[in-house]
Amino acid sequence: MEQKRKPLGVFDSGLGGLTVVKEILEHLPHEDIVFFGDTARVPYGSRSKETITEYVKEDIDFLLRYDVKAIVIACNTADSMARAEMEARFDLPIVGVVEPAAELAASVTKNGKIGVIGTKATIRSKAYEQTMAAVDPAIRVYSKACPLLVPLVEEGRFRKGDVVVESVLADYLTPLKAKEIDTLILGCTHYPLLRETIASILPDTRLIPSGTASTQALIGTLERFGLLSDNPSHGAIRYIVSDAPDRFAENGSKFLGREIHENVELVSVTEVPNG
Ligand code: DGL
Repeated sequence: MEQKRKPLGVFDSGLGGLTVVKEILEHLPHEDIVFFGDTARVPYGSRSKETITEYVKEDIDFLLRYDVKAIVIACNTADSMARAEMEARFDLPIVGVVEPAAELAASVTKNGKIGVIGTKATIRSKAYEQTMAAVDPAIRVYSKACPLLVPLVEEGRFRKGDVVVESVLADYLTPLKAKEIDTLILGCTHYPLLRETIASILPDTRLIPSGTASTQALIGTLERFGLLSDNPSHGAIRYIVSDAPDRFAENGSKFLGREIHENVELVSVTEVPNG
């Protein structure tokens, strides 16, 4: 098959990456996508760098079986912990979520004070700080690990008016508010669902989700490599998970912004590695 007609391989530790898929579908409607959600091993965010790197390697190996033309790491945790190693290891374009969001934030801040929220692993990696320091060393970055947010979102507790999520968010965001940040990076692919609730606590702060900047970076990369699909019709999407496909299909719609009508395929987690 011609290289540009091959699918994009997109993966996340679970459901969150669907917020990135939503952006890709909107801006690159002619691309075929194979999405892998590692629902058997989610969450990645509380694990060690060694384990996350191993999982990410296996996730990419798995997607390569579908003859994908490029990889999108639709997970901040995976991207911040393992991106450099994956780029050295695999010989195809790899687009992440951290660098594009960090560069966008650095370019829009007016007062040079940027907040970052994410999983423990993402915050520990300092990947956002490093990218923004390379753009402008004068930028001050205030980061906060928010380990309770992924389970809350997964349980459907993300809406404005939900007292539990509002009080958890207030606790996490108050120190950032005190620093007078004017820009906040939502450094986890689950967080776009919290956007409205976060905006009610930080009404004057510009919120940067992962998927928007990442999709622009993906378009740039595909153009650079001559890989943009020239398929005139709409692309097809395949969803593959390592556990609980029914739960993925049911909960995924909140992240994707539309129902998942496609069959969600199940692979055994022991099949995810090479053999
Ligand atoms: N989707 C992951 C991220 O963007 C969070 C979920 C997890 O901890 O695996 O960081």
